[in-house]
Order: sequence, then structure tokens, then C-alpha cells
Amino acid sequence: MNKRKILVTSALPYANGSIHLGHLVEYIQTDIWVRFQKMRGHTVYYVCADDTHGTPIMLRAEKEGISPEMLIARVHDEHLGDFIGFHIQFDNYYSTHSLETRRFSEEIYGKLKTAGLIAVRGIEQLYDPVKNMFLPDRFVKGECPKCSAKDQYGDSCEACGAAYAPTDLKNPYSAVSGAKPVKKSSEHYFFSLSDVRCADFLRCWTSEADHLQIEAANKMREWLGEAGENKLSDWDISRDAPYFGFEIPDAPGKYFYVWLDAPIGYMGSFQNLCVREHIDFDEFWRQGSDAELYHFIGKDILYFHALFWPAMLENAGYRTPTKIFAHGFLTVNGEKMSKSRGTFITAESYLKQGLNPEWLRYYYAAKLNGTLEDIDLNLEDFVARVNSDLVGKFINIASRCAGFISKRFDGKLVDGRQYQLLQAMVNERFATWRPDQIEKAFEDREFSAAIRHIMKFADEANEMIHELAPWEIAKNPDRNDELQRVCSLGIQLFYLLSRYLKPILPETVQQIEGFLNCEPLAWPQLNAGQPVADLLLPAGHAIHAYQHLMTRIDAKQIDALIAANTHSLAPAAHHDSPARHAEKQQHAVMPIADTISIDDFSKIDLRIAKIINAEHVPGAEKLLKLTLDIGNEQRTVFAGIKSAYDPEQLKGRLTVMVANLAPRQMKFGLSEGMVLAAGGGNPGELFILSPDDGAQPGMRVK
Ligand code: MSP
Ligand code: ZN
Repeated sequence: MNKRKILVTSALPYANGSIHLGHLVEYIQTDIWVRFQKMRGHTVYYVCADDTHGTPIMLRAEKEGISPEMLIARVHDEHLGDFIGFHIQFDNYYSTHSLETRRFSEEIYGKLKTAGLIAVRGIEQLYDPVKNMFLPDRFVKGECPKCSAKDQYGDSCEACGAAYAPTDLKNPYSAVSGAKPVKKSSEHYFFSLSDVRCADFLRCWTSEADHLQIEAANKMREWLGEAGENKLSDWDISRDAPYFGFEIPDAPGKYFYVWLDAPIGYMGSFQNLCVREHIDFDEFWRQGSDAELYHFIGKDILYFHALFWPAMLENAGYRTPTKIFAHGFLTVNGEKMSKSRGTFITAESYLKQGLNPEWLRYYYAAKLNGTLEDIDLNLEDFVARVNSDLVGKFINIASRCAGFISKRFDGKLVDGRQYQLLQAMVNERFATWRPDQIEKAFEDREFSAAIRHIMKFADEANEMIHELAPWEIAKNPDRNDELQRVCSLGIQLFYLLSRYLKPILPETVQQIEGFLNCEPLAWPQLNAGQPVADLLLPAGHAIHAYQHLMTRIDAKQIDALIAANTHSLAPAAHHDSPARHAEKQQHAVMPIADTISIDDFSKIDLRIAKIINAEHVPGAEKLLKLTLDIGNEQRTVFAGIKSAYDPEQLKGRLTVMVANLAPRQMKFGLSEGMVLAAGGGNPGELFILSPDDGAQPGMRVK
């Protein structure tokens, strides 16, 4: 076999949040692929790290009253604990805040500069005069320049979908201090992507040699435009102090933007591993290297990996990735994960509830393919699928056959003539079976197809045992040989299935190796024309007594998981960590608006409204469609409260609406008024108003 050298990465998770089931799609997908390649005997390294730099991390540390270094050290441990809990086996899990990543960042920057690809230009940005810092787009809020919706972020409006610059916002305020930002200019460093060298290189790289999946390559073509069109603009790679990151060597007070050093963190983590394990770094990273380099990422960060990153590497004299493997996003029960619905499920809570991580690994594998399609975790289907496939089909084979082998045959599988008969049965029954398809499916990350093949095999194994019915044979002591043969057959088929499932269920299969009393299972390599029976355990092999291998999921466990992740919207019921509490205490209070007269106020006609219906709007990310009863008429209102409320929970309740607001034509229909709500910053932190008991629909609020 041709031994491949493969370096694999997953995206580096931000150090300012917990790992959740969405992230795990990626780490589980990568881990399965890596384990598969390792089982086949290739030389594979899988590295990752925390992505530690940037303004959000700096501010969060400040809020918690600790240094960013302390914050990232704590989160590193949490993240690693979560990954270990889900049996993600990194060869190195490092940090971008490392000497290695700093050195590579400086070196790559230096080379780009020498190549004439770094430009310096003054740009004007919003600045917080109280906090004395430039504000990233997400830290400026204000009214949408297009529809005047309040409390919108500096890059886009959640109410009307408009995209704009933070300087376009009306009545802007800093989300950090609440102060009114001022415009201020400063010098920024740019990577000259618009340079013809970069544009030409990227046009080639993104279209040639299978570097990208088809959908990704198409997207890149859109972003790059035709030759000569030059749609790429230069990339701003510097940020002004205060910033948590690496200072740019020849530019005091300027820091590398987090996305510059983040992918370089792949190299940093690998370098750290190389020193520890005496691996030749250059063999993997020099231009012309014959090693393979793969980055597993989510589709949201394709731009960085398919454009900026290869352009940086190419111009700094390093090899470029062999292929970028992008995957889609996770939805839960068909919708975006939501804190109010309890479907924003953290990795930690899943493990804490005592759910088996291999259930999720199996379910994701059963759903994943090699495209950018989103995948859905349907919780009912999750329970059904795991119970029927894993427990009902797979584990069941062993539990039905092992007892007889232990009790009646001292743990020994058949040998001699009986073994030959067994082999003949397997070869006959599985003559047309194509295990190379399973192998190809794993290689192509078509895990769902691999599982279909494997489960079809499990079905046939079960059918065969069902037909042979060892429990019937066992009733007749004269049929002892036959009993041993049939039960041995079951164990052998179970052994074979385990080999194919090992990348997906590493811990379960490790237990199985103990039970079967065999060496760590390797990938079953079958040459053309070779019979399936060649893959089995040797004649006369002895196994240990069967021990319980996997339980069924009880739907109640899922209910408990959802409950553990449901963040009640009533403030009294919040179970906040001290960190979150501190965050809320410091929640920026918006400055009070200009004074108005009572006449101004009385122009606003506020009414008590009863929500008689609430429903999701297909295609809308933020909106719910509400039908409101205001006494003698009904109104339809599209409200941007989807992140915080489940429609079911709204039906029947009273709230307050602006009844004389000019109707507005929205993408999804006509909105005839507005429902009042407080908050609206972070997902889930949104509170619609309720009147006291006794208020009736249609009453005016004054
Ligand atoms: N720090 C950057 C990556 C830098 S890589 C040089 C980042 N971090 S992240 O924590 O937001 O996301 C880490 C990975 O998880 C990304 O590939 C992202 O696409 C993936 N996912 C995050 N949420 C996800 C889902 N809901 N579903 C599937 N993947 C998700 O981006
Ligand atoms: Zn708007």
C-alpha cells in the first residue's frame, strides 16, 4: 500500500464561547475521517487550537476582571475537556497565543511585505471616546439608516436585512460604553489582494486540481469575478491598540487582526507537535511537499480559507492546502439552534446528562455527506435511529450469540472443518458484497453512504442469524456443533462490522476489542477477488464473556437535555454563572433620547393586544408572524423576536403594540404595527411587554 502523509485541521474555535452541538458537527466529522485514515495505516496528524485573539475576547476578560491570558487558559481547558468527552482525538490541541504562531505570523507578514504586498493607508472609523478604542462593526449600534429600526448592529439590520457601514447608522452608540462614537482616522495595514499576482493566482488555485468542492468553487468564482474584472479588495490586517493579539513588528500600537494569525495557528500547533514528536515540519509545509494538507471548516468561513489563506501561503513561500473540506450548518428539529427553545445545546450539558457521545457521533455520521448542505439533528429521529441501528441491529448480533459461546463452548469459536463451513457460508452469502464502497465513502466523507452500506450488512447478518435460529438449535443437545458454528458465525460478522464502525464508535469498539479478545482492529483491506471470509478472526479464537456494550436512549433523557439548555426568559429564573452575571451588570445602558413634549407622546397610540396566533415565517431568520387582536380589529405584525420566543409560548398572551404606526411592506408581507419589547442585543435577551391582569385587548396605554 502507498503510505500517505496527511496533515488535517479543524477550524480553531473562538476562545470566548463554549463548544456546542453545532461545533461538534465539524470536530466529529474530522475525527471520523482522521481515525479512518489512521486505521488504514497512513501517517496522519490532526491538529487544532483555540482561536484566542480579538476584541470580544479582550472585552470579555475585562468584564470578568481577569487578564485575557487567564481567560484563554481557562477556556482552553474547557474546550479540550469537551473534545475529549466526545472522543475527538487531536494529536495536538494548542493555542494561537503561542510563540510558534507569533513567529510564523511575523515571518509570513515580513515575506508579504518584502514581496510588496503590504500597503499602508489611513482609514476613518468609529471611535469610542469614553473607552478610547476603535469599535468593530458589531460593537456599534444604532438605528437602521434604511428602516429606522432601533438597536441594530453596525453592519446590518435585523429588521429589514439592509447591509451598511457602521458610519451610516443613525444615532449610533457604543455597545461597550454607551457613548456616542466619533469618527477618527488611523493608519491601517492591508494585504494587497487586489494585486494582479494575488488575483491571478487565486483564479487558478480556486478552479484547478480539485482544491474546493464544486459549490465552493462556484462561490469563489462569484467572489473573484472574471479575469481582468478584479473584484477583490485589499484586506485590512491591522487593528489599533487596545487589542488582544500580536503587535505588528515594525508598527508599534498596531496589531495583527485575529483572522491573520488564526489560520497561521494551524502551523503553530503543528510546529509545536513536531518539536515534541520529532516530526519534520518542512516535509509538510514546504512548497512542492508531497504531503497532503486538508482543512475541515464550516461554510461560513470559506472566504478566509479559500482566498486569504492560500494567497498568504503562496506569497510567503509555503505550500497551499490540498483541499478545503467545507460542511454545512447544524439545525436542531429543523430550526436554527435557539436558547429559548433549549436547542442551543452545549457539549458539556450533553455529557453531564449522561448521554453517550457515541450516539451523537453515529447520528452525525448517518447524516453527513461531502457537500455544504446543512444537517439536521431531529431529536426524535436521533432516539429512534440510535436505538434501532446501533442497539437493535449492531449490538444485538453479539448479545444474541455470545452467551452460548461462553456457556457451552468455553468462549471458543469453531475451528477445523466447522470453521471451513463457516467461511463457506460467509463467502456464499456475501459474495456480491462490496466493502470497497464503504472505504470509498469514508474517503470521500460520504459518511451517510458508508453507514447505509454498513447497516445493510448488519441487516443481512441479522437475517442470517434469524434464519439459523441458534436459540432453537440450543434446545437439542445433539446439535452442539451446529450451535457453535452458528454462534461463531454471528460473532465473526459482528467482528467484521465493528471494524467498519470503529472510526465512528472508537470507544465502543475498544470495549468490543476487549470482549472479542483481539488486537486493536485495523481497517479491513480486501484485494480484488479476495473472499470476505479472509477478514475474519482466526479459527479456534477464544472470546471473553459478553458484557453490556451499549444502552438504548430513553426519550426522557432528551427531555432533560432540552430542559437543561432552556434559558427561561423570566429574569428571576435565570441561573447565571458569575461571569454572565457580570456581563449583564455591565450591559451598556443606552443614553436617554432627546426630550419630547406630552403632545409628541400622545401621537403614539399604544394598545393592549392579544396574540391570537404566532408562527414561524419560512425563510426569515429573525421574524415571527403575529396575529394581534386589538378589540375591534385584527392586525398582522412581523416581529423580530424569533431568537427569544417559541411561537407556541406566545399564543394567547397579552402584550402592547403601537397601533398607529404606518404599515410597512416587508419581504414577507405587510406589517401593520409594532410590538414593544426591551433588549434585543444578544440572542435570547429580548423581552416583550405584558400588561397586568385585567387589561383587555384594545385598551389604550397612556
Ligand atoms: N475562530 C474561527 C475559525 C478560525 S480557523 C483559522 C471560528 N470559530 S467558531 O468557534 O465560530 O467556529 C468554529 C467552527 O465551527 C467553524 O468551522 C464553524 O463553521 C463551525 N460551526 C460553528 N457553529 C456551527 C453550526 N451551528 N453548525 C456547523 N458548524 C458550526 O469560526
Ligand atoms: Zn432596517
